[in-house]
Amino acid sequence: CGIVGYIGMRNACPILLEGLHKLEYRGYDSAGVALITNTGNLRIYKAKGKVADLESVAADKDCSGNIGIAHTRWATHGVPSEANSHPHVSQSGDITLVHNGIIENYATLKEQLIEKGYTFKSETDTEVLVQLIQYTKDSVQACNLAMAVRLALKKVIGAYAIVVIDRQEPEKLVCARKSSPLAIGVTEENKELFIASDASPIAAYTKQIIYLNDDEIAVCERDKDIQVFNLDNKRISPEVKEVDIDLNMLSKDNFDHFMLKEIFDQPNVLRDCMRGRIINAPYSRPWSPQQKGKNTDSLSVILSAVTLHRRELLRARRIIILSCGTSWHAGLIGKQLIEHFCKLPVEVAYASEFRYSDSVIEPDDVVMAISQSGETADTMAAMEMAKKRNALVFGIVNAVGSGISRISDTGVYIHVGPEIGVASTKAFTGQVTVLVMLALALGMAKGTVSQEEYNTVLHELVMIPDKIQKVLEQNDKIKDIAKKYIHSKNFLYLGRGYNYPVALEGALKLKEISYIHAEGYPAAEMKHGPIALIDSEMPVVFLATHHQLYQKIVSNMQEVISRNGKILAIVTEGDEQVKAMVDETIEVPPTIACLAPLLSVIPLQLLSYHVAVAKGLNVDQPRNLAKSVTVE
Ligand code: G6P
Repeated sequence: CGIVGYIGMRNACPILLEGLHKLEYRGYDSAGVALITNTGNLRIYKAKGKVADLESVAADKDCSGNIGIAHTRWATHGVPSEANSHPHVSQSGDITLVHNGIIENYATLKEQLIEKGYTFKSETDTEVLVQLIQYTKDSVQACNLAMAVRLALKKVIGAYAIVVIDRQEPEKLVCARKSSPLAIGVTEENKELFIASDASPIAAYTKQIIYLNDDEIAVCERDKDIQVFNLDNKRISPEVKEVDIDLNMLSKDNFDHFMLKEIFDQPNVLRDCMRGRIINAPYSRPWSPQQKGKNTDSLSVILSAVTLHRRELLRARRIIILSCGTSWHAGLIGKQLIEHFCKLPVEVAYASEFRYSDSVIEPDDVVMAISQSGETADTMAAMEMAKKRNALVFGIVNAVGSGISRISDTGVYIHVGPEIGVASTKAFTGQVTVLVMLALALGMAKGTVSQEEYNTVLHELVMIPDKIQKVLEQNDKIKDIAKKYIHSKNFLYLGRGYNYPVALEGALKLKEISYIHAEGYPAAEMKHGPIALIDSEMPVVFLATHHQLYQKIVSNMQEVISRNGKILAIVTEGDEQVKAMVDETIEVPPTIACLAPLLSVIPLQLLSYHVAVAKGLNVDQPRNLAKSVTVE
């Protein structure tokens, strides 16, 4: 879910709605806004569906007032409906709040409130929280809104980021967080204050941001210093950070969708990801595209996390990579890279499973979290668990200043810019790029990679952005191919070695945005089950670039062909053998095996995009999904 709050001298409503648009990638089941109007009334407008639906609802209503809160929802408790959408209001109609997270003990709290005579209009845990705040304010002597929020939160088990307003105290916003992100944008003399789930709706107004920590409450009042305190009422001096968000990254430019823009952004953002980290030793300066054509034999990779934590990293006996979704697929590639270049055993686990398992974590383990958003609740919780067990916690995160980056002992930012499309694209290639650099830097520190191989990989890595560009030039061809598959009900994606996680990622991309069932498999496993599904109706996408086990993949293709299966193969430029065998091929430039995913995933991203567009689906906001899953 995404939440926004504003207090200042401007009309709050347009700022809140604009903020919701920026946060819509976090959920779009329903949206709502609450305003304290110029006449002191509390007005709440809600709509099932998108922010645009809310705009239509609010269009002819009283949207005056300089203070308000707003929400775009990804449903957890209760179906997407107007009644279940936020803001929720207390029984007296005074207090209203927006919430991101889950109140785990809401059923018990609700029962207690019902006993006290409270009635409920929705099925949500959030309504319980607002009623609890109202009850606290009414039943505790001399209690103001901030105190009521604090005392109520002491009774709550769960995760939350909330912003609360009270018609009786119309000059303030009270916000709080635990395990769900919350950013406060501050301005000179605090003439205006902006609150949001992340900095993207704030960046156009101010770069000065306070990120609340767990169990902190902030009282935001116009023209006043923000007061921050913890649940025990101890005052805390907040740290103001300067964030640097490229506002262009938050717009679609001339592309039809964020996803397409982000796919096409990849050459440039991967250069950003490498910039300052891949150094051309003779010139002692960061590698830049302008150096193209110069001698790249002496490239080297320097990651400050590896330099600063060299001792702990060299001592590590094992690396555990924890992540979810697409980031987990990047983790599977990371395992192969680190085991190859660093000769260190690597385990890759879904954070959601790991956090509840009896997994053994030793103090000399390094636990790495990979996350685009840096907010995924399961990944964050698994990292906290590893931290408690004294492992070095290493974050590979895109969102600067996000929760996971803050709890990590060290790490490497992916630096591919904000990713808005729900289906992750540039974050994946950025994660893989970071993992290649990390494996090389650590391998060099450990002495487990030869100078020759190190040079070859770096030399190839810096050429990857140009090669991705060549794949992108086939966009029209891939669009035509996609049209042929829009009626398929199932897809199989097969790959081996470094391309096996790409098969998983290709299948996930298709499922996410085109709603076609797809499975990724290691190609050789096909004969242990999935082969039973193959018939002329079932397209099989093979990752058949010229690398490890190429001939074996070709044999797997024969097995599909002899069962009348349709094949689309991703092949290395000039591969005539496969072209002669299969229905369709898409060529990618040659590279070395460990970098193959960076090229072979690109046609799969474009394929799923074009299938979804041809089916008339909403690519950037596929049904039921959310970009940041801040609940477990
Ligand atoms: C959600 C997103 C996926 C993403 C996953 C992990 O499910 O829709 O695209 O891969 O979360 O997110 P993270 O931000 O931790 O990489």
